Formats: sequence, structure tokens, C-alpha cells
Amino acid sequence: MKIKNICCIGAGYVGGPTMAVIAQKCPEINVTVVDINENRIAAWNDQDVENIPIYEPGLSKIVEEAKDRNLFFSTDVDAAIDKADMIFISVNTPTKTYGIGKGMAADLKYIELCARQIARVSTTDKIVVEKSTLPVRTAEALKNILDNTGNGVNFQILSNPEFLAEGTAVDDLLNPDRVLIGGDIDTDKGRDAVQALVDVYSHWVERDNILTTNVWSSELSKLTANAFLAQRVSSINAMSELCEKTGADVNEVAKAVGMDSRIGSKFLKSSVGFGGSCFQKDILNLVYIAKSFGLNEVADYWEQVIIMNDHQKRRFASNIVKTLFNTVSGKKIALLGWAFKKDTNDTRESAAIYVADYLLNEQAEIVVYDPKVKKEQVYADLDYLNSRSEKENRQRVSVVNDPYTCTKDSHAVAVMTEWDEFKELDWKKIYNEMLKPAFLFDGRRLLERDTKEEIGFEFYAIGS
Ligand code: UDX
Ligand code: ADP
Repeated sequence: MKIKNICCIGAGYVGGPTMAVIAQKCPEINVTVVDINENRIAAWNDQDVENIPIYEPGLSKIVEEAKDRNLFFSTDVDAAIDKADMIFISVNTPTKTYGIGKGMAADLKYIELCARQIARVSTTDKIVVEKSTLPVRTAEALKNILDNTGNGVNFQILSNPEFLAEGTAVDDLLNPDRVLIGGDIDTDKGRDAVQALVDVYSHWVERDNILTTNVWSSELSKLTANAFLAQRVSSINAMSELCEKTGADVNEVAKAVGMDSRIGSKFLKSSVGFGGSCFQKDILNLVYIAKSFGLNEVADYWEQVIIMNDHQKRRFASNIVKTLFNTVSGKKIALLGWAFKKDTNDTRESAAIYVADYLLNEQAEIVVYDPKVKKEQVYADLDYLNSRSEKENRQRVSVVNDPYTCTKDSHAVAVMTEWDEFKELDWKKIYNEMLKPAFLFDGRRLLERDTKEEIGFEFYAIGS
């Protein structure tokens, strides 16, 4: 089976970059990315590719090459589904905020809506690919809806988890460690569907790096990969606290440990806590699934990764309060960075949100500068927590376009995101314009201690 038309439902951080790369690498396949969010689609269609809604290094160039050639963005979901041989579902699957599984299970309502829409519209056979991170056995639910509400056409469900990390999405897509495709490999039709997707990726990925498995293995592998990665961050963050008490330095420990080839050096960077749309959500999901099978020890084991992460964020914020003579009431605290990591404008679950919230509860005044995050996003993130009124958030938090305006007249500066440009700031000027003593908290181990202490800062860095 040769795929000619692909539709992707969801033009977000996963769907957008993934489809742009497929379109670039497969010029004979038409790729249409659809979304119900009109503003998002309009931004993808903006004449100036620098205005695409997602900041991701290298992405605008790929979009420029493929857009209107074989890459299209549209709000006409029905038309794109109807035309497609293969449909990717890349809609968001947030953690449930209500009812059974509240705070833990993934909310599958957007997935279910997609399934019902696909079933209603389709008049020809389709391969439906789960791209969003989903709990194990979602494929079964999808199949159930499609088979029971469709027009009698054949649906094959594949799981094709996304392993791209934001900030390096383009490189991760172009040179993946592996591509994972789960399908119904016990039937001819299932194997054909898997092969069709293998053929798409084979345009640029070595066949040996494309793994095919059954659907459940594929779904669970995604959750497992994210749980293992997050666990490494929580493990090193746990050590960071011990380092601060003992005089060890977490960077030195990470280096020494990481040189053991069995452990490896990646993902051992201590920080103010991991964020992003996946880690917390996927682990909560894993915990929920384990609990639902009565596997309480398994659930408790993984839950500890989240507990450690929450502790790290709180610990960082409370250390600021303690260091500023036990009160930040009315004091101006400058936060450098709001995104959950550098090179992205995504702020989902960013540690900065929780640190800001903690400091606001302690009556601080917060000023934020992030090179890529917009003011409205900062307010939306704080409003979402419901800790205080929207009005109060706007009164006590300001978002500025320049790092020096952010830090001027502040009592303390905290580095929340490891943006490269923060290393190059004129720290002498920042120091001169701050209140004294000038406190500097490095939540990312981004800055050199010696040069900052020479300038006169009271310097605190995670894990040393
Ligand atoms: C993650 C997975 O890496 C990716 O494979 C999956 O598809 C989606 O989830 P992402 O959340 O985009 O990707 O970014 P990642 O680079 O994994 O970072 C997640 C968080 O962990 C960030 O807040 C980052 O700052 C933090 N982190 C990462 C650390 O604090 N220390 C590290 O050593 C690595
Ligand atoms: P991710 O990081 O998983 O890509 P995003 O939130 O960035 O998550 O993107 C998901 C996108 O899916 C959003 O732009 C949202 O508007 C879109 N979406 C959600 N439900 C539907 C639907 N039923 N039809 C079309 N688009 C949808």
C-alpha cells in the first residue's frame, strides 16, 4: 500500500514539527495538518515563516521549503480526513482535572472526539496512527469506536509514539535513535498497515532503526522511556540536596557517575525541576495504570519521581525566601526564563510557574523576562493555578521584554531556564542596578560561581 495523502489532527508541538519533516522528506506525499484552533492554523499559514506558532530551532526553514508544495495547514478537519489514507492523531491529552482518575489519568476526550469524527467522515479504508502520548490500551478504545460507529470501512490502528524533545525536535526527527511502530502484526491487514508507515519513515531513517512491535508494547514503551528519563532527573536532583549539605558538588558527582558507561552521561543535569508536557503526565498515567491493576508497589515507586520533582521546585523557592532574611513580602524578585527548557516557547509544567506561585504566596513582586514566551502566556499559566484572582496576578507580576529592565531594582535574580543568552548578560551592570546585598539564584547551573562572586553577588546554585 502506498500512502499518498496524510492528515494530521492537531497542529501543536508534536503534530506541527513531525508533519513538516515528513512533508520535507516525502515530497510525493501530501500532508495536511488540521486543527480546530483557527489562530494556530492562521499562524502556521502566515506568509512570514518566522511567525509560526511554535519556536523550534530549524523548523521555520523546513516549513518554508514544504509549505504549499505538499504541506498544508487547514481548519477543515472533515475534508482532510476524507481525503487521507493515513491519519495521525496528535491532539493534546492533558491529565484529567475532574472525576475518576482526577489528577492522574489522561483525559482522552479529545482523542475520543477525533475517533468519532474519523468514523463519521470516512468512506474509504484508513490507517489511524496514535501519535499523542496515550495510556496503554487506548488503541483498543479507538478501534472500538471506529468499528462500531463507522461506515463499514476498515480501520487499522497503529501506535507510533513520538520521542522528540522540544528545543531539539527537528534534529530528533531527522536523526531519531529509533522509530517505533506498533500494530496488529498478527493479521495481514495489520502487517500491511505497519509496512505502509515503515515506508514513510524509510525515506530518511535506516530500516534497522525502525522497530515494529505489537500495539501494547509500543504504547507502554513511550511511557517507560519518559518515566526512565524523568527518574534520572529526579535522582540527580535528590543528590543535589545532599550535595548542598555535604560540600560535594552535583556537577562533579554527575560527571564521575556518568563516565560509567553503564550509566551514561546524559540527563544528569541537576535543575530546579523538570517540566514539559510529557514527564509528569506520563508518570501520573503510569501510576494510575499500575494502581488500577492493584500494583501498589509499582505505582508508589514511580510516584516518588514526581514527589521528588515537586520537592525540588518548592525547595528552590523556599530557599529564596529563607536567604532573603525569611521574607520576600514586597520585594522584587526577577525571574530569568519562563519556558520549561531552553530553545522552546512551551511553558507547560515549567518549574518557573510553581516557583513564581510560591513567591507570590509569600507576597513577593515578580518580574519575568523570557526571550520567547509571550506575556499572555505567563498570565495564563498563573491564572490556571487558581491561587489568586486574575487581577492580582496582573498587579503583582510584570512581564518585560528586556533582561536588564527585569533585574533592575530587584532584591534577587533567579535563573529559571537555561537560555544561552543569560550566560552572556552584562552581570556587572545587573549587579550595579540591583538592591544590595544582591542575591543570585541559579536554578540551572548555568552561571559560573567565581565570576559572579567576584562581582559581588551572593550566589546560590542548585547542588553546590
Ligand atoms: C521529553 C522526552 O525527552 C521526549 O523523548 C518525549 O518525546 C517528550 O518528553 P521534552 O519534555 O520536550 O521531551 O524535553 P526534555 O529534554 O526531555 O526535558 C524535560 C525536562 O527535564 C525539562 O524541564 C528539562 O529542563 C529537564 N531536564 C532534562 C533536567 O532538568 N535535567 C536533565 O539532565 C535533562
Ligand atoms: P502536543 O504537545 O501534544 O502537540 P498541543 O497542545 O501543542 O499538544 O497540540 C494539540 C493540538 O490539538 C491543539 O492545537 C488543539 O487545538 C488540537 N486539537 C485538540 N482536539 C482537536 C480536535 N478534535 N480536532 C482538531 N484539533 C484538535
